[in-house]
Amino acid sequence: MRGDGEEKTEQDQLAEFHADVQEGLSQDQKTLPCRWLYDQDGSELFEAITELPEYYPTRTEVGIFKSHLAAMAEAIGPNAQLVEFGAGAGTKTRLLLDALETPASYIAIDISADFLRASMAALARDYPGIDVIPIVGDFMNASGLAETDLPTGNRLAFFPGSTIGNLLDDEIVTFLSAVRTMLGAEGRFLIGFDLVKSADILVPAYDDAAGVTAAFNLNLLKRINRELDGSFNLNAFAHEARWNEADGRIEMHLVSGQDQTVKVNGDRFSFKKGETIHTENSRKFKMDGFAALAEQAGWRMKKHWTDDQKYFAVALMDQALG
Ligand code: AVI
Repeated sequence: MRGDGEEKTEQDQLAEFHADVQEGLSQDQKTLPCRWLYDQDGSELFEAITELPEYYPTRTEVGIFKSHLAAMAEAIGPNAQLVEFGAGAGTKTRLLLDALETPASYIAIDISADFLRASMAALARDYPGIDVIPIVGDFMNASGLAETDLPTGNRLAFFPGSTIGNLLDDEIVTFLSAVRTMLGAEGRFLIGFDLVKSADILVPAYDDAAGVTAAFNLNLLKRINRELDGSFNLNAFAHEARWNEADGRIEMHLVSGQDQTVKVNGDRFSFKKGETIHTENSRKFKMDGFAALAEQAGWRMKKHWTDDQKYFAVALMDQALG
């Protein structure tokens, strides 16, 4: 398996987690980076979220792919070198590979070597005609991307799922710029992103009746307790999903139900009743707002496809000249 370096050791990972928690819980608005939501349990809970009746994004995006595959394949053309960020190889990837004319290779970049190995082995078995290339790397770390060497030809970056929406604007521009550098001037980008809609739809999607999203959010505290010798009482925090209209994003918070002090690796952090830890942003874009951000990174939206309700969008972008 290729990579931009050795996979991070468990110790490095733990040290990074600890540093992020120390820093995040020391701020006025306590915050934790959302990437730490995805340990084994968190990843399984996220999978369960994608099946919830209230969580429309996954189902809607798959529907967009199914409805517009022929047009997408036509626009993309033959012999694509598909580069996916995150070890997808899931439904959307397979739908696309099935629809494309003689795709040449499928390159997946993911931080988890184990996850990559498993999903790529299955894909290579099912698509013997395609060159399957796993690359271990942190695709959110732009500097890692620029060094990656890719097969030449019809390069197409693929980033479905609106994972782009979990980044802040400046991070989005940095990431999109890095992908452009990585792909070269002829490269194109097929990307999925979630659209602004009524809070009546958005809030339940992030605060479902069965409590799966609450468990996903609270699992972060469980992880701190387990990995960083934390003393969080999970019953003393509650999940909250907030629609922040000004910033066009759903925010996940963990709200302290009482005044309390929590220890993490011996450090103490105090919470007032009602104080929150901000654990995730999930951006909901307007079509022109997304196009403007992409343009800052040198991408030009050529085509886009949406569902009937305009809940979600998939865009094909090429590069603006000059
Ligand atoms: C992974 N990401 C696109 C999800 C989202 O909708 O922002 C993560 C998620 N958080 C709560 N529910 C789902």
